[in-house]
Parts: sequence; C-alpha cells; structure tokens
Amino acid sequence: MTKTLIVYYSRTNHTQKVAELIAQGVGANIERILDVTSREGAFGYMLSGQQAMLQRPGRIQPVKADPSHYDLTILGAPVWSWSLSPPMRSYVIAQKHKFKRVAFFCTEGASGGARLFRQLQTLCGKTPVATLEVTEGELKSGDYASKVQEFIQQISGVTTSAVPQSEHKGL
Ligand SMILES: Cc1cc2nc3c(=O)[nH]c(=O)nc-3n(C[C@H](O)[C@H](O)[C@H](O)COP(=O)(O)O)c2cc1C
Repeated sequence: MTKTLIVYYSRTNHTQKVAELIAQGVGANIERILDVTSREGAFGYMLSGQQAMLQRPGRIQPVKADPSHYDLTILGAPVWSWSLSPPMRSYVIAQKHKFKRVAFFCTEGASGGARLFRQLQTLCGKTPVATLEVTEGELKSGDYASKVQEFIQQISGVTTSAVPQSEHKGL
C-alpha cells in the first residue's frame, strides 16, 4: 500500500479543508506547516503578499513528519500574489531531498494555481503525479468534493515500485 504524507500551509483554513478531505480519502498522515510570526490582519496580509511576490521564504516552526518515510508527499498551499506562499517555499527548500513522489494542490480566490504549481515543480525538481486547484467559489458551493475525488483517483496508482531509482538519490 502507498504510504502518503500530506503537508499543507493554511492561513485562513481553506487549504486545511481540502487537505483533510484528501487525507480521509487516501488514509494519509497529515501535517500543517505553522508560521513563527503572525500573519494576522492587514499588515500580515500585505507582508504575505509582498514576500510571495518576491519569492521569499518565510520562517516556519519545526515539522514532525519525515517525508523520506513516505512513497508520496502531497503538498498543499494557498496562492499568494499568483505565487507559492512563503511558508511552503521554506518547507520545500528544507525537505525536498527527502521527497520520492510528489503531488500538489492549492486553493485560491480565482487564479494563479498554474503558476504556483510551476514554481513548486521547479523548487522540488520533480514532476507531480497529480495537481488539484480549488477556488474559494468551489469551496463555498461544495463543488470541490468531486475534484478532490478525481485527484485521489489520479494518485491512487502511485506505488513504491513506480518510484524511479534516480529519484531515490540523496535519501
Ligand atoms: C497575501 C494574499 C495574497 C493572495 N493572492 C491571491 C492571488 O494572487 N490569486 C488568488 O486567486 N487568490 C489570492 N489570495 C486568496 C487566497 O489564495 C485564498 O483565499 C486561499 O483560499 C486562502 O487559503 P487559506 O485559507 O488556506 O490560507 C491571496 C490571499 C492572501 C492572504
């Protein structure tokens, strides 16, 4: 059976909602990335948007799970300034050498997911086995549930034996 880890960052719990639905569907372990400093309020919003636009990492608390113990790591983050949010950027920079296979998901107001996925792919140095983009509108209407099921179907074929030897380097 594929061992799956979901790692997500969420400032206002939209991405958390999607992460939990995926975790239920695939029986994955789940870990939330936490900020060191607050991103609350108008100042937090502006700081976050600016850091993301400049593609800067953000300070995060230590994580518990070791991705090298998993066949598949699913990374989830909100789109900020059409970019990867800084806390997820920091996580990937620190942990990417431990990833075997990766899949990505994001939540967004309306757009920017495709750009975020390209940034994540470049940062990880790996092509995702699946991606999932969920808008705030889909979260409100509940339409995201069918997209999540489709995403789960796509990742369900991933097994340890399918991991190319070259991707084991550095573990
Ligand atoms: C600083 C900041 C910048 C954002 N930039 C974008 C953006 O470029 N495109 C977009 O569609 N939504 C943008 N959003 C909206 C978030 O992507 C959206 O609300 C997301 O679902 C939040 O997820 P979370 O609740 O897990 O933090 C931005 C939100 C913040 C806080």
